Amino acid sequence: MKLVDFVKEEIAVIRERDPAIKSNAEVLLYPCFHAILWYKVAHKLYNREHFFLARWISQRTARRTGIEIHPGAVIGKGLFIDHGTGVVIGETCIIGENVTLYQGVTLGGTGKEQGKRHPTIGNNVMISAGAKVLGSFKVGDNSKIGAGSVVVKPVPPNSTVVGVPGQVVKRNNVRLPQSDLDQIHIPNPVSNDINLLKQENDELRWILRTLLNEGSEPEEQERARRSLMQESRMNNWEYGTDGDGI
Ligand SMILES: CC(C)(COP(=O)(O)OP(=O)(O)OC[C@H]1O[C@@H](n2cnc3c(N)ncnc32)[C@H](O)[C@@H]1OP(=O)(O)O)[C@@H](O)C(=O)NCCC(=O)NCCS
Repeated sequence: MKLVDFVKEEIAVIRERDPAIKSNAEVLLYPCFHAILWYKVAHKLYNREHFFLARWISQRTARRTGIEIHPGAVIGKGLFIDHGTGVVIGETCIIGENVTLYQGVTLGGTGKEQGKRHPTIGNNVMISAGAKVLGSFKVGDNSKIGAGSVVVKPVPPNSTVVGVPGQVVKRNNVRLPQSDLDQIHIPNPVSNDINLLKQENDELRWILRTLLNEGSEPEEQERARRSLMQESRMNNWEYGTDGDGI
């Protein structure tokens, strides 16, 4: 694509999606204009295996614009990155057409995958400010990711995803039941671990006591079990770990 065509396309994209723009010349002030222009150069070099030069351009552009696009990423037409600061697009990311990203978006990996490690973003997707999309899954066409969400699972087309971890709250513009979206009464992992340890400890004491009492009358075994439970309750009270105490 010629530079003139690129500039025309960018003007159309930015005027369509940012009501704040007042004149075509302002397009030159948008960090995304420079980031995408230099990405195109770097991507060509990357495809020709000039990896160092490609990365050099990408890193230089990242320092100037705040938008880090790995030259290996594959980006479709009509990408708009509003504001831009803190946007990161990983090497194996594939971005469809007419995608909008806001500041602080990461299209990254989880560190657990090899090869294709970054997400595939469908057409007409909007990823709001600060959202993180992590892993090599697909975000379906026409979906929206809410600000501050952390998405770690595939997103079906036409969905709205919000929260940490991201949950689909709307599909085809219809609200889904939100029973599992309570982000206030989240389980306390430390308390859960302690309760699990206590339960295992009780079981071990019970086995020990049973082994010690082996061969004795059942009533005696029952008495031993009761005394064991009594001890366990005393421990809970002493350490204040009963119920929601932690
Ligand atoms: C997600 C978003 C795109 C709205 O999409 P939508 O499909 O119109 O969804 P709705 O507004 O109907 O919201 C659906 C539900 O998600 C909740 N929700 C919306 N955005 C949310 C967010 N970022 N985090 C948590 N919950 C959110 C809403 O409160 C609503 O809950 P309810 O059904 O209990 O009322 C929008 O809320 C958002 O996050 N926009 C940010 C855009 C942005 O980054 N702007 C930066 C400009 S500089």
